[in-house]
Amino acid sequence: MTTPRPETLAKLTPVLTKRWLSPDAWQIGTYEQLDGYAALRKALKAHPDDLIQLIKDSGLRGRGGAGFPTGLKWGFIPQGDGKPHYLVVNADEGEPGTCKDLPLMTHDPHALVEGVIIASYAIRASRAYIYIRGEAVHAARRLRNAVQEAYDKGYLGRNILRSGYDLELVVHSGAGAYICGEETALLDSLEGFRGQPRLRPPFPATHGLYASPTVVNNVGTIASVPPIVLGGADWWKSMGTEKSSGPMIYSLSGRVVNPGQYECSMGVTLRELLELAGGMQPGHNLRFWTPGGSSTPLLAAEHLDVPLDFEGVAAAGSILGTTATQIFSDQDCPVYATYRWLEFYHHESCGKCTPCREGNYWMVRVYRRILAGQGTHEDLDTLLDTCDNILGRSFCGLGDGATSSVTSSLKYFKQDYLDYIEGRTAPKLSDKQLVGAH
Ligand SMILES: Cc1cc2nc3c(=O)[nH]c(=O)nc-3n(C[C@H](O)[C@H](O)[C@H](O)COP(=O)(O)O)c2cc1C
Ligand code: SF4
Repeated sequence: MTTPRPETLAKLTPVLTKRWLSPDAWQIGTYEQLDGYAALRKALKAHPDDLIQLIKDSGLRGRGGAGFPTGLKWGFIPQGDGKPHYLVVNADEGEPGTCKDLPLMTHDPHALVEGVIIASYAIRASRAYIYIRGEAVHAARRLRNAVQEAYDKGYLGRNILRSGYDLELVVHSGAGAYICGEETALLDSLEGFRGQPRLRPPFPATHGLYASPTVVNNVGTIASVPPIVLGGADWWKSMGTEKSSGPMIYSLSGRVVNPGQYECSMGVTLRELLELAGGMQPGHNLRFWTPGGSSTPLLAAEHLDVPLDFEGVAAAGSILGTTATQIFSDQDCPVYATYRWLEFYHHESCGKCTPCREGNYWMVRVYRRILAGQGTHEDLDTLLDTCDNILGRSFCGLGDGATSSVTSSLKYFKQDYLDYIEGRTAPKLSDKQLVGAH
């Protein structure tokens, strides 16, 4: 186990995670003692447009994967249009390896509730929803309890803190489908339909929930709002890099000594994160990793010093995504890992468009063949050709994301594929598991 050096420990910037270890952090009394609802009091005295400008000035970018500028998104909501406006928090957190939103809602639910109230006030919404993954029963319970506490204290409901502003907040549990994390599928699901992506344009900013102007933001994005209101845009920008401001919760899983959430200024490197996490497990050497979940192209040991911000990861040929860093070692097989991810995408494909529905179905079969020792060299071309027909041709990002580990593992670890095909690696799947592979 590596003990982090003081200069690496200094990379930790607990802002969203700062209350997580306090006793009973999820209760409103603790939250109020630790700055809780102070930002709301401040925000309600400001003009909503000034709050939107503050978020623009802070450079906050969405924490749900795409990194879209949050203030800009809020600014798209047409004002004075006479329609109801909605804020919808995306708490689906389905990306494999991602575990930052559920711990936040479990340990510090009021941070999200307070962020919801401020964001709703800024975009002039009088109704907000938190769409939480159905399986996340414990987090949903904590969240519902926090919402009730906030109502009881006058932070929600009519005439909040005597400001004249009204807001109703509903926590809605989904049924558990990865596609329902895609924002338009989420809106369909929230409206009671089967969760499938909508054609865009029109975008949710004008035609979102119930065809009304809607902001959809990730849990981490909204929970960042109260600290920005309290600390100011310059303080927020003092962390992170020029175009990727603020702290970020990196979730480390896999072959590390201490997996978990590490909140650091954006731009931290995997080398530093590994040091914070106690290093690789004994007997394991880093071989490949995802910078932001399984939808982001794999990186290798040579990328240990890539700055983990939106620009740095893109320059290395991948995507920052949800900052879910899944760590694999020389004892893990990139071909098998990719196969398991593809099984996931195949299972979660909503079936609306042909490239994703059919492409993932067939790629799973090709992988089974390779892993059973019956693959051919042509299979590798077939995989790349199939990815080429999915990427950029699918209706939503699920299809694109499914191709990431296939193309990147073939780029960095082609030899591993050849070893199965040419018989140097023992098959991982039996003939029985091969059913349907031809
Ligand atoms: C298949 C798929 C799954 C997604 N799952 C999530 C999710 O679980 N949580 C999330 O916040 N965003 C998810 N997104 C991204 C959302 O569509 C959307 O970009 C995000 O909620 C916007 O919030 P932000 O601007 O605060 O990042 C997903 C996108 C796709 C294509
Ligand atoms: S890409 Fe996949 S998940 Fe997205 S609409 Fe097409 S079939 Fe559905």
